[in-house]
Amino acid sequence: MRIAILGAMPEEIEPLLEKLDDITRIDYADNRYFKAKYKGVELVIAYSKIGCAFSTLTATVLIEHFGCNMLLFSGVAGAISSELKIGDLIYADKLCKHDLDITVFGHPHGFVPEGQIYIYPDNDLISIAQKVAKEKNITLKEGTIATGDQFVSSSEKKEWIKDTFNADALEMEGYSVALVCDALNTPFFILRAISDSADGDAGVDFDTFMEKSAKVSADFILNMVDELS
Ligand code: ADE
Repeated sequence: MRIAILGAMPEEIEPLLEKLDDITRIDYADNRYFKAKYKGVELVIAYSKIGCAFSTLTATVLIEHFGCNMLLFSGVAGAISSELKIGDLIYADKLCKHDLDITVFGHPHGFVPEGQIYIYPDNDLISIAQKVAKEKNITLKEGTIATGDQFVSSSEKKEWIKDTFNADALEMEGYSVALVCDALNTPFFILRAISDSADGDAGVDFDTFMEKSAKVSADFILNMVDELS
């Protein structure tokens, strides 16, 4: 078993790297990848850089070049659901792309021909996450995560995404990573801790809480690796 752990920003993977010994750095395709062994499990850890293009590239490299056969994503998200507060953990039970728009040709938002509006993560990994949450008494929510190539900082936009996709949280990489994993038959799991509420305060909240929330997510992911090992 070789597990990929992917974040978008350095802060999303640093809490993991800090806990691992004997890390080997490999530079490939304009990015760095960190190989380590943890409790007998081979890990390849990377941050993709922000957004769908970079995360598509990095997820593909992790699977096709580094031979990872499972991918866990760790990072932060903006809350859409009023039940999600800063620091809360949410995993995607499905993912969509809120800024994909060829509606002028009669297609629904988030859809292109031969694609799918929603992509679904691996059920076994979801069960493992639920088990970890139960054993460690951690509150873990589930919901639809909407991805797009924009930092959302407006209540109006957030409400539109909620109404159009019934989404609970939003971020900038999940759907593209899901698409790669789905196409390459690689089980995946997308976890996010809330850093802001995607409203007018989002920029300030993100700067204030991103690092702490990123660590909440990374710690949970490492607990999942414990369970998988
Ligand atoms: N990731 C964390 N907060 C976000 C937001 N408000 N918009 C997009 N991605 C995010």
